[in-house]
Amino acid sequence: MHLHKFEKIWLVFGIISLIVFLSIVGVTAFSHDHHPSGGTDTIDPKKVDQTAPFDNPGVTQIDEDTYQVAIVASAFSYAPLELRVPAGKEIIFKVTSKDVVHSFTIDDTKVNMMVVPGQITTRAYTFEKPGKYLILCNEYCGTGHHFMFTEIEVH
Ligand code: CUA
Repeated sequence: MHLHKFEKIWLVFGIISLIVFLSIVGVTAFSHDHHPSGGTDTIDPKKVDQTAPFDNPGVTQIDEDTYQVAIVASAFSYAPLELRVPAGKEIIFKVTSKDVVHSFTIDDTKVNMMVVPGQITTRAYTFEKPGKYLILCNEYCGTGHHFMFTEIEVH
């Protein structure tokens, strides 16, 4: 009798653990599905030039403390060619690719974004110090990969 009771308790405990475990796994998988790291949105890679904000890439002030920077990556350059943002403000980078996978990596910072055609990758960053920062591609994207870089000026 006693053994039977214990078995029952363990069985119930086991089922509850399983349910808890499965729901954690499920929730994790679900949220991963909807929010890949950095936050992404989809875009038609063939219509990048006609889709806002990439139809007019560059810096847009959103409010007093926030700026948005739209960047289009393509083999083997970034648009726009010139970028200038203020230090000490939140800069929201939105990057997409017109062709293959690139990266948007700002040297000496933690900004290292994968740029995937069909996706808009978003990353916020605040530059503490003014200066010129090198932006480069560290995903191999073809013959011009090593020449794919630009600069951002923080004032
Ligand atoms: Cu673009 Cu490597």
